[in-house]
Amino acid sequence: MRHVLDITDLNVTEIDELVATAEDMLANSAKYAHILAGKKLATLFYEPSTRTRMSFEAAMLELGGSVISCADMSRSSASKGETIGDTVRVVSNYVDVIAMRHPYEGAAYAAALKSPIPVINAGDGGHSHPTQTLADLLTIHREIGRFDRLTIGLCGDLKYGRTVHSLINAMLRYENVKFVLISPEELKLPAYMLETLDRAHAGYEETSDLESVIGKLDVLYMTRVQKERFDDESEYERVKDCYVLTAEKMKLAKKECAVLHPLPRVNEIAEEVDDDPRAAYFRQTLNGKLMRMALILKLVTEKDSVYIREKTVLGGKCANKKCVTRLEKLAPLYKAEEENGMHRCAYCETLQKLGDRK
Ligand code: CP
Repeated sequence: MRHVLDITDLNVTEIDELVATAEDMLANSAKYAHILAGKKLATLFYEPSTRTRMSFEAAMLELGGSVISCADMSRSSASKGETIGDTVRVVSNYVDVIAMRHPYEGAAYAAALKSPIPVINAGDGGHSHPTQTLADLLTIHREIGRFDRLTIGLCGDLKYGRTVHSLINAMLRYENVKFVLISPEELKLPAYMLETLDRAHAGYEETSDLESVIGKLDVLYMTRVQKERFDDESEYERVKDCYVLTAEKMKLAKKECAVLHPLPRVNEIAEEVDDDPRAAYFRQTLNGKLMRMALILKLVTEKDSVYIREKTVLGGKCANKKCVTRLEKLAPLYKAEEENGMHRCAYCETLQKLGDRK
């Protein structure tokens, strides 16, 4: 039993194995059609979703398993005050694996601490979205054929974009990968992610000008500016249309550049780009289902020991007001950082000084 809360909970060998399994599932679907007969998945989605939820459910059904779900978690006993921990303890009596999405950062970690069955993070606030990254990785593999020697442009909302954070963490582990961070000032990559890039000695540049850098990209990862993450609607209005990828701009891109987007899109990719063979974002959604099939199969069948990231207890509440420790009474866990007296929240990973905590 193990959990997948972050893409780094899977090492690169395991990613390679998942990619190989996903490719085999596409080529030989009949081989997998009954492989999880009798097993069950629960989807606990406290936040809206189309792709992630439906692809998880389709994935389990295509493996011969079953799915139970709650159509609307606001009508579950969470509305009566039931904690995430109690919910997963109960649901673990009914199923073999849980996929959970939650608007609070670190919620999947809070669930995993109490769960005797595997918990898969299907997106926690602006923090992490590891199975989207699995979809992104299979897409890069199928479109470009390698994970090393790539220049990856990440464009749009790099501040709240959990898919961006997870993809950077995944790609950092490959040789000679450079990142071009394209965003307005207000939506720049958070400090803890820049620190991660610096620690890995990764090559990166920050710019607000897509057109000046598009020509050097092997992968262009477009993202939506997420209205639901802003406290101040006027700030959202100011930046919402900061980037729109058009057919004209695609003329500046490499012939082999793959355009990815986790979707849903709003305005950031004009529909005219959909017909460009480099537009990979709808193929990416099929890849998401395949990788979720491979991941569910791995977690339900492998005999691994419990895996949970190690933490240090330091006390206090996280300074990040979107952290799950602000929603529920949770053991205040922090991982002490060795450098400059900073501490990393166990749940949402926000870096903070002792005095910043509440
Ligand atoms: N990419 C993604 O997470 O889409 P949904 O929000 O529709 O699941």
